[in-house]
Amino acid sequence: MPVILVHGFPLDHSMWQHQIGPLAEHARVIAPDLPGFGASDPIEDIYPMSRFADDVAGLLDELQIDQPVLFCGLSMGGYIGWEFWQRHPQRLRGLIVCDSRAVADDAVVRKGREVAASRVLEEGVQVVVDSMLPKLFGKEFFEHHRQQVDRVRQVMEQTPPHTIAAALRGMSQRADFSSRLGEITHPALVICGEEDAISAAEEMRQIASAIPAARYVEIPAAGHMAPLERPQAVNTAMVEFLNQISG
Ligand code: MLT
Repeated sequence: MPVILVHGFPLDHSMWQHQIGPLAEHARVIAPDLPGFGASDPIEDIYPMSRFADDVAGLLDELQIDQPVLFCGLSMGGYIGWEFWQRHPQRLRGLIVCDSRAVADDAVVRKGREVAASRVLEEGVQVVVDSMLPKLFGKEFFEHHRQQVDRVRQVMEQTPPHTIAAALRGMSQRADFSSRLGEITHPALVICGEEDAISAAEEMRQIASAIPAARYVEIPAAGHMAPLERPQAVNTAMVEFLNQISG
């Protein structure tokens, strides 16, 4: 079964660097740079999560993959995952949601995203990078793995301002899936770093309990970037889930 790994904001496929090899021992792994990010062409205006989900489906078409896939998304990748479930359920075999949320933004967060989008377009991406970077990691990782943190910083800094603004606006308008989790009949794995400062572990535990066939795995001493911070624990959970739904 193919596995598609969908990165968070404002990152690229390299955030899955520790998952691609180990998962490829069990499945075909596709880890794209979403439109606008990494090596893809910049995007503009506002880019809804539903459109990213359709882009993922389009990529599967291009790759001539018609069998249902295991969709794995982190944070914004998780927002795209809910849309993929809604829009392309027949293409989905299982869902992994890492460090993400099911609720929509409230008015305060929406306003903050609009302010950030305008500032990025006027002043450059650094405003978002500086405010986000420390929130991405658990305390220990942020302090003791400077090289890896700096690599993530570089990816963020290379993301075009128009892409950042378009994705911020897209996220701010995303649908609320929190009341729809009970409708998800696909098997699901919900993973969250214990110290996640962006998507709280307690909230992710509740997401898992609302999805009928979901398992929750909390990654100790990890933040929002659990797959990068504690790859072994994350990979163990992912491979076990993959084998379970492949059988
Ligand atoms: C992400 O990691 O993709 C973002 O933090 C998501 C968000 O800003 O809501």
